[in-house]
Amino acid sequence: MKILGLLSRKGGVGKTTLALHLSVMAQEAGLRVLLIDLDPQGSAAAWWQAREADAPQLDVAQPGQLESLLDKARTAGIDLVIIDTRPSVEADAVQVASLSDYVLVPTRPAILDLRAILGTLDIVKGGRHRASIVLNACLAPRGGVGEASSTSDARKALKAFGVPVAPVSIVQRAPLAHALVGGQAVSETEPTSKATKELRALWRYVEKEMGK
Ligand SMILES: Nc1ncnc2c1ncn2[C@@H]1O[C@H](COP(=O)(O)OP(=O)(O)OP(=O)(O)O)[C@@H](O)[C@H]1O
Ligand SMILES: [Mg+2]
Repeated sequence: MKILGLLSRKGGVGKTTLALHLSVMAQEAGLRVLLIDLDPQGSAAAWWQAREADAPQLDVAQPGQLESLLDKARTAGIDLVIIDTRPSVEADAVQVASLSDYVLVPTRPAILDLRAILGTLDIVKGGRHRASIVLNACLAPRGGVGEASSTSDARKALKAFGVPVAPVSIVQRAPLAHALVGGQAVSETEPTSKATKELRALWRYVEKEMGK
């Protein structure tokens, strides 16, 4: 069983959006997936309530319950656990980082978000897990190919921070947010969309990195 933690001490960067989408992508790839909502805001749990399909599974937990929940998941034959966390609370981030095999740190490509990422990277560096930063809610590239210059600038700036940046970035796209409202992922509502292609590419990257 692999454990993937989504961490960022800054709010609103896309932890929940990416956790939900990656959970559906992994399930579509044939894995048994458990999502753990560690955020008292309950955004992942609300999405799951609105969802008609049974998979992925979801548990709501307090940080103190996390280890026993992971043991239960292991016994139940879960292949992948994805943990969505709340922002700001350092202790939660430290705990999730220590239990995860892989940590994804989403950030928006704006300068204030890039500066705010340092606190999270301090937590993520070290430990047995591997990690990468993922640029989310990026501007769409001109002409639809490659990356917007603001995205590649952010990528360059982040190089100095000592945690790899995922080669796939996720553009700000309305269908991606709309899908979540109905308890779905964009791969279910718009399977051939650009948003689906990007998120699938992100899943393949994470899957490969987790397997290393
Ligand atoms: N790539 C994207 N395209 C469109 N909308 C996005 C994208 N990423 C995030 N959003 C939107 O931005 C908002 C914040 O995203 P999200 O809730 O996933 O962030 P978060 O890091 O989980 O926030 P919090 O720290 O409050 O838990 C949401 O309204 C979400 O729908
Ligand atoms: Mg969230």
